[in-house]
Amino acid sequence: MSKERVAIIEVGPRDGLQNEPITVPTEVKLAFIKHLVDAGLKEIEATSFVSPKQIPQLADADALWPQLPVGPAYSALVANEKGLERALAVGVKRIAVFTAASSPFTERNIGMTIDESLVRFRSIISQFRANGGQFVRGYISTAFECPYAGKIEPKSVIRVASELFSMGVDEISLGDTIGTAVPVETKALLRDITGQFHPSKIACHFHDTNGTAIANVSESLNFGIRRFDSSAAGLGGCPYAPGAGGNLASDDLVYFLERSGFETGVNQSALAQASLQLLSVLEKSVAAHAQLSALSRVSKTQS
Ligand code: HMG
Ligand code: MG
Repeated sequence: MSKERVAIIEVGPRDGLQNEPITVPTEVKLAFIKHLVDAGLKEIEATSFVSPKQIPQLADADALWPQLPVGPAYSALVANEKGLERALAVGVKRIAVFTAASSPFTERNIGMTIDESLVRFRSIISQFRANGGQFVRGYISTAFECPYAGKIEPKSVIRVASELFSMGVDEISLGDTIGTAVPVETKALLRDITGQFHPSKIACHFHDTNGTAIANVSESLNFGIRRFDSSAAGLGGCPYAPGAGGNLASDDLVYFLERSGFETGVNQSALAQASLQLLSVLEKSVAAHAQLSALSRVSKTQS
């Protein structure tokens, strides 16, 4: 019997690099992305067309995009008209707009309230579609907890989700931006939200600050969620979400899903190579559990 497929949306080149203290050169990003492609990742969030003053790490989006290796479906973050113009100029066909379930967060992140962002994104999405745009994702950050407003009720997330779907997003991604959610909270949100929207339209984006991301993925699978965001080597974080840890490591997600009987299409050792090479550029040590265990197996075999 064939295994059920779970899609991994690799956000390492965007979420993974946007919060790093160093700006990675474009050619190093391209080599990293090439490794991700070789590892079998089919959906990659490559960069953001946001203000280079606010996210200088991704200021090279216009130069990076035309050089991306062919194959995967690439997407990029867009938050305003200027960003949309830049994205369209280089032929971007898949964008992600990003709001949140808490205005104190959107005010810091994108300089507007949730409702202002919804007005803005309705216009951006319609311009994008009118210019041949093919796929739009709507992120809802702080879906569980906001670093400024505290715990978030599912109904606040559902309100934003309804607005995003009404403007024609293809999917929403629920962001545990600061990585504090535990399965009982994931269950509460997904029970309510999958009661209103089909699970195939929902992705989950867990940061792993407290080591609970895999447990949240496990709970999400029970609700029919089959699309998860993760970042090679567990890099990531948002400059406007103090205390946020890295994303769930793609390495750990692939290990968990494959071992649980799902198919991801991702080669674990090729992914480990992608992660390790980037970590060496960033001069960071390995954090993903799946890599640590693989490395310790290698060193035991060699000793
Ligand atoms: P703004 O500064 O409020 O815009 O940016 P503005 O219209 O006032 O413009 C000010 C200056 O910025 C102008 O330049 C603009 O041209 C320039 P000046 O005249 O001063 O020389 N500018 C731009 N330049 C190039 N491209 C642009 C652009 N926009 C303005 N797109 C904006 C508004 C939303 C763009 C800004 O606040 C911004 O870039 N914020 C960064 C948001 C961001 O990328 N956050 C991280 C991603 S979200 C995340 O990580 C969460 C997620 O992972 C899910 C989860 O974990 O929950 C998705
Ligand atoms: Mg994130």
